[in-house]
Amino acid sequence: MTQRIIEISSPNFVTELQLESPANFAALFENHNPLCLEIGCGIGDFIEQMATIHPQRNFLAIDIYNKGCYKTCRRIDGAGLGNIRVMRIEARFLLDRYLSLNSLAAVYINCPDPWPKKRHRRRRLVNRDFLRALLYYLQPGGELFFSTDFTDYAEQVAPLVRDLPGYESQLGRLPETIPQDYPRSKYMRRFLDKGQPIHFIHCKKQESCASGCHLLTPVRAGFRTSWSSVEHG
Ligand SMILES: C[S@@+](CC[C@H](N)C(=O)[O-])C[C@H]1O[C@@H](n2cnc3c(N)ncnc32)[C@H](O)[C@@H]1O
Repeated sequence: MTQRIIEISSPNFVTELQLESPANFAALFENHNPLCLEIGCGIGDFIEQMATIHPQRNFLAIDIYNKGCYKTCRRIDGAGLGNIRVMRIEARFLLDRYLSLNSLAAVYINCPDPWPKKRHRRRRLVNRDFLRALLYYLQPGGELFFSTDFTDYAEQVAPLVRDLPGYESQLGRLPETIPQDYPRSKYMRRFLDKGQPIHFIHCKKQESCASGCHLLTPVRAGFRTSWSSVEHG
């Protein structure tokens, strides 16, 4: 079943047509503030809070889900926030095509799809290759925040972050339970309300690590091809 695509007319919604490769995000935001990326923004509740707390930072919120992008735009337009832009785009494709070396001050990944079945785990977004690739795009001292309700996913990511040269944990223990002052997303609230823990990982790209490895895995065409004929508002 195909879902109806909702037209998104928000001035904060960005299509690929507006971007060069690599993109000029300073032009897009009309300032040179640090750029932060949320991957899988869902309905935009997390990014609304982050952008409100950090008005001197720019936030790019992406999701592959049209309705999520629509809801995120409605939320930030309603809040009158000028430091968020929203894109419907696949994360690895965005990185590979539009971002450049040391361009990101922070990356947020909250409750990514857990792919709980063992045979599906290789579909998880955050794995060794992805973390190595992120080192290329994070600036030295740039931060990675990862949260998940899924214990197995946290236990997969924690040792990778601990052992990969280039990252340094900002927590005594990995994974840690989510801090009180970290903004809550819809999915986080869903699990916390049921008394289930949210596992949390926070690390930085080492200051001494000027570059990382570029994407090692090919960008999958799946999410892209189905969009080729779609107009994105
Ligand atoms: C489980 S939801 C969590 C949404 C939100 N982060 C939250 O915590 O409420 C995962 C979201 O990530 C998006 N997503 C999954 N894979 C993605 C990818 N490769 N690139 C961009 N977004 C992705 C999905 O469309 C979905 O909206």
